[in-house]
Amino acid sequence: MELEVNDNGVDSYEEVMLIYESALKQITTKLDILNREFQLVHKYNPIEHIKSRVKTPQSIVKKLKRHGYESTLQNMVKYCNDIAGVRIICDYTSDIYRIADMISNQSDIRVVAIKDYIEHPKPSGYESYHMIVLIPVYLSDRIVDTKVEIQIRTIAMDFWASLEHKIQYKFPGEVPQQIQDELLENAKMVSALDASMLKLNEEIREIAGEEEEL
Ligand code: GTP
Ligand code: MG
Repeated sequence: MELEVNDNGVDSYEEVMLIYESALKQITTKLDILNREFQLVHKYNPIEHIKSRVKTPQSIVKKLKRHGYESTLQNMVKYCNDIAGVRIICDYTSDIYRIADMISNQSDIRVVAIKDYIEHPKPSGYESYHMIVLIPVYLSDRIVDTKVEIQIRTIAMDFWASLEHKIQYKFPGEVPQQIQDELLENAKMVSALDASMLKLNEEIREIAGEEEEL
């Protein structure tokens, strides 16, 4: 059963947020287990680190307003895909797809949407791999399939995205064109750096005689 508000579902903000927080705990535990198993088998951590957060009431209201919806519990559950958000940071682009596969292969996780902004970067230059998944949260009387937004990116992509995000906040309206152009140029450098680091890592692994296919 997906999260429903009223009509036999939940009826308070606190209860909704408890469910989203629980979904985050479930998913971060799963990721920790996968990472540790991978480390044990392959002597290598595909995940550098993980950040998770639930969206603040202020930004939920702001987002609903931006999309023209009233701030109701129903609307936030229906239209906000990122109330529960996890960001997974890894070393190499190849790790991103490896992690995405591991997540998709979990039998109790349902992937409902994928946006591959690495294959197709945004006009800003933004690169990341986004998944919206449903994960079951076990309550005393029912199981609630809860939406979580997962963003997977390299350290270099994360560096760019976090600086670009801060720059956006410095300009109340549009970011000046010249700055946008420079950010796009830098995003291309990030992409080239990621490709070069991946190649370097492959060379190192070959020289060190490590197994090719992880
Ligand atoms: P919202 O942008 O959140 O309304 O959702 P959406 O449905 O358009 O999804 P999208 O995949 O475009 O973006 C989801 C999230 O990705 C955002 O909330 C940001 O955290 C991140 N993101 C998307 N585009 C950019 C970008 O150009 N720069 C940065 N720094 N982050 C971005
Ligand atoms: Mg967007």
